[in-house]
Amino acid sequence: MSLDRPKPLSPEASQILWKPESILERSSTEAIFRRSGPLEVDFGCGEGAFLLAMAARFPERNFLGTERLVGRVEKVCSKAARLGLSNVRLLQLENLYTVRFLIPRDAVSIAYVSFPDPWPKRAHQARRLVQDDFLEEVRLSLMSEGELRLKTDDLPYFQWMEKVIARAKGWERIDWPDDPSYPITNFEARFLAQGLPIHKARLRKLPESMPSGTVS
Ligand SMILES: C[S@@+](CC[C@H](N)C(=O)[O-])C[C@H]1O[C@@H](n2cnc3c(N)ncnc32)[C@H](O)[C@@H]1O
Repeated sequence: MSLDRPKPLSPEASQILWKPESILERSSTEAIFRRSGPLEVDFGCGEGAFLLAMAARFPERNFLGTERLVGRVEKVCSKAARLGLSNVRLLQLENLYTVRFLIPRDAVSIAYVSFPDPWPKRAHQARRLVQDDFLEEVRLSLMSEGELRLKTDDLPYFQWMEKVIARAKGWERIDWPDDPSYPITNFEARFLAQGLPIHKARLRKLPESMPSGTVS
């Protein structure tokens, strides 16, 4: 009988995995990446196609992916190591906890939430990632004029997101023109192949001197 054990990560892939020294203290870009530079976070990065493509395209930026599933985390670590992407880190932890307790404040230049689980049943909607508290924690993590970019294929969830956005303070909604050269995520590739529309919203954090601003 063979036991189906996961293969251990290579030493190079282990370097990509971020294991916080403490899960009770906020970290810093320097502590996570051992270097400075802009910080971007992909919440629920899945199998990481978008994260890795962005990291390859912008080597001067630092890309943190969060993901709760260990298999996906390890896959992305191994791919990043094979591609020699030293500007990528993966954290296996829950999104809201991560942004609330671990990610530095006023530090992130772009946060991405792409195709979060839609939880279509009414009884499960409280499990949706995009909620008032998540949006506010992301806002606090962003530097002034930092951005949150949201994408989903699910129209009811997008309508829900728009309501959350409409009552949130400290943001402005900005245009997000289509750009065929912009990397796509694993799920986005599937939905595009099925001809499904993609709904998206791009928000910019207002400077602190304008705290009462609401999304227009
Ligand atoms: C529908 S997939 C989208 C993955 C990727 N963003 C993409 O577009 O291909 C949602 C991902 O979020 C992860 N996820 C769901 N809830 C999460 C949570 N609370 N914290 C961290 N990851 C989560 C899932 O495991 C899954 O990989």
